[in-house]
Amino acid sequence: MTGPAILLLDGDGIGPEIVGATRAVLAAASDRFALDLRFQTATIGFAALDATGTTIDAAVIAQARVADGIVLGPVSHNAYPPVAEGGLNPSGTLRRALDLFANIRPAATRTGLPAPATMPFDLVIFRENTEGFYADRNLHLGPGEFMPDADTAMALRKISRRACRRIAEAGFAHAATRPAAHVTAVHKANVLRVSDGLFLEECRAVAAAYPAIRYEEVLVDAMAAHLVRNPACHDVIVTTNMFGDILSDLAGELSGSLGLAASLNAGSDHAMAQAQHGSAPDIAGAGVANPAALIGSAAMLLEWLGARRSAPALTRAGRAMAAALDAALANPATRTPDLGGRASTDGMARAVIAAMQG
Ligand code: IPM
Ligand code: MG
Repeated sequence: MTGPAILLLDGDGIGPEIVGATRAVLAAASDRFALDLRFQTATIGFAALDATGTTIDAAVIAQARVADGIVLGPVSHNAYPPVAEGGLNPSGTLRRALDLFANIRPAATRTGLPAPATMPFDLVIFRENTEGFYADRNLHLGPGEFMPDADTAMALRKISRRACRRIAEAGFAHAATRPAAHVTAVHKANVLRVSDGLFLEECRAVAAAYPAIRYEEVLVDAMAAHLVRNPACHDVIVTTNMFGDILSDLAGELSGSLGLAASLNAGSDHAMAQAQHGSAPDIAGAGVANPAALIGSAAMLLEWLGARRSAPALTRAGRAMAAALDAALANPATRTPDLGGRASTDGMARAVIAAMQG
């Protein structure tokens, strides 16, 4: 089998810098573990809007579909023109087009790296990624937001049995591999009785198939407080799209910084590495952006590819990359300025590569 084809999409703002750094680390991992990674590139975001009239065109989606894995840089989609003028959100578009239903977002404190959390913790959020309150992807035709009159705006939240079942199954299957083997379903079924009631029904059905896993349910507002007070009492969190979006930023920040928060968008056939943070246009081009979250996301992608292709070298490479990232972050001299260090984006990537080779 030839090595995996990895499609790199720069995105906007700091995207080209952190995708470049991530590519360098992936290339080093490829050499070190004989992975034979094949890199491909395509243009999305503002650069594509200028050239093709849309921030992500059909050819890029087709390229993503045939790639083995994707690395997506952050996008400035909040600043894009309306969809009718080509301003598609590349992140949502790819999540939907490739059916990347699980957004897997680990957050853990690291030895040697200061964190706002008052105690060490290690958790993973499994966020549903294809429906919920996401107006750009929750309807078959048309957006899930509209204005019945000039002074009223409405948003639809879609919760389907199938999507709830899939995210719960992914979360439980992962929890079964972790020592704590504990799943918390996060919801707001006291108010959203029907939709979050459906979500909980599916979580409970999956829980019944995993008697060895401790299962509990927590309201999303209470969960925000729990995460600040006692993050160590959570292991795998399964939740709907927008709750997961919000809680994962909280968990990432508690672990040290949102700038460290990695994520993998995974489906049955495709996976896309994507940092949780945005495109930070204020520091774009300065060479100081922190590439840690995207490097961590790319490590998750290698592990996913290792499992999918039954290729232990890819799994080992993913783990080695994550460990090398931890080592680089433990050293104040190799941290970027957002973490109080003086390393450049490339300097941080070089430190990760050196740790991986050492
Ligand atoms: C994320 C982001 C995106 C989301 C935005 C950019 C649409 O916040 O990946 O967490 O809400 O999914
Ligand atoms: Mg977010």
